[in-house]
Amino acid sequence: MQKLLIKGKKEISGSISISGSKNATLPILAASILAQKIKLSNIPFVKDIFTMIELLKFIGMKIKIERKNKTIQINNNHKNINTLAPYRLVKTMRAGVLVLGPLLTKYKKAKVSLPGGCAIGSRPVDLHLFALKKLGAKIKIKDGYIIAEAKKGLKGSKIRFPSISVGATENALLAACGAEGRTILFNCAIEPEIQDLILFLKKLGFKIKISGRSISIQGNKLVKKKINHHIIFDRIEAGTYLIAGTLIGRKLILKQIKPKILKCEINVLKKMGAKIIFKGNSLTIFKSSNLKKISLSTKPFPGFPTDLQAQLMVLMTQSKGVSKIRENIFENRFMHVPELKRMGAKIVIKNKTAFVYGASKLAGAEVMATDLRASVSLVLAGLIAENRTIVNRIYHLDRGYEFLEKKLKKCKAKIKRI
Ligand code: UD1
Repeated sequence: MQKLLIKGKKEISGSISISGSKNATLPILAASILAQKIKLSNIPFVKDIFTMIELLKFIGMKIKIERKNKTIQINNNHKNINTLAPYRLVKTMRAGVLVLGPLLTKYKKAKVSLPGGCAIGSRPVDLHLFALKKLGAKIKIKDGYIIAEAKKGLKGSKIRFPSISVGATENALLAACGAEGRTILFNCAIEPEIQDLILFLKKLGFKIKISGRSISIQGNKLVKKKINHHIIFDRIEAGTYLIAGTLIGRKLILKQIKPKILKCEINVLKKMGAKIIFKGNSLTIFKSSNLKKISLSTKPFPGFPTDLQAQLMVLMTQSKGVSKIRENIFENRFMHVPELKRMGAKIVIKNKTAFVYGASKLAGAEVMATDLRASVSLVLAGLIAENRTIVNRIYHLDRGYEFLEKKLKKCKAKIKRI
């Protein structure tokens, strides 16, 4: 099994090009079920994207990958479509469930494996099913599969989500595109990745309006024959390197970003004492030797993302005083804490809040990655720790970070994969 070896305390400098967003690419790939011919660029070629491609191929779509140009061309020629998403492809990547809405709305039936839980929480799909039922789907669960049917097609409706979910908003949005009439979704997630999905759907010809947390969609069966779309940058990857730069950057430049989308993350880092200079679609970040404590909670966008909680906690270990971070989105997302404590961090968890006592000197150790973002927080900790850190189980990292060690190595970090 592969691991990462990191020799800490080495400042990083140079530039990093931020990849396209995994969390925008996944729903857009699912949305390609509604399209005919599309070309997507700025694709991050990480494990989850390959799994989604495999799923689309299984469904019957023709896909051409050009890794060099970071593009994918998809041809949906409507023949021999399989409206099934099997367990083996959905179990490792929950976003597989996003094919449910588009398959059901276009082909009037779908059988999709229930994704099951994962390390960070139980992660049910009740909100996805709630919205599809409101659009007229008949749904039953049998042998671990969601079996959905809409013999006469889905019908537009007004749907208020009882709580905010990224995936359920995406599934409902995709289903509503092929439904008859207008759908209005209330209390939606409005993450930049969902806004990118909406941009893609508008290019296909759907009429979609977004106002606050409401999204209105006019269903339509006809779509444009051929469209191109450039995937938005990965704000979580950008946030991760922003934190790396604040921890240990001599002069770290992040390229291919939109600082406006990172407003919340940048404000938090600035409050903690980060030094950031903006220039167009890039920014430069310098190490701060006088980091201040902070208290915050993870929230849906435009709040501070749960996907950066673990990484920010590493920064908190280097800030003077007691920082607090409350995890509001997932029930079990502090699994990096025991590993950070083994490296010398002082962290106490009470209910949903982690109290981080800083500043602590971290020392290298052999640690175990448990999920995608927890893994990268251990890499950040390794970069600032004394001596050598070994991060095990890095297949989690490969699910979501493109060229992580290559990008860091180019910036003079001492990191290697063995
Ligand atoms: C997406 C992101 C993930 C991010 C998360 C929250 C992708 C591929 N993944 O995941 O990286 O951490 O948003 O920003 O985009 N919930 C229910 N019932 C449901 C659906 C969700 O109770 O039917 C709960 C979840 O358990 C969780 C909360 O709602 O506690 C938010 O989850 P959700 O926004 O749906 O996350 P994902 O779409 O799975």
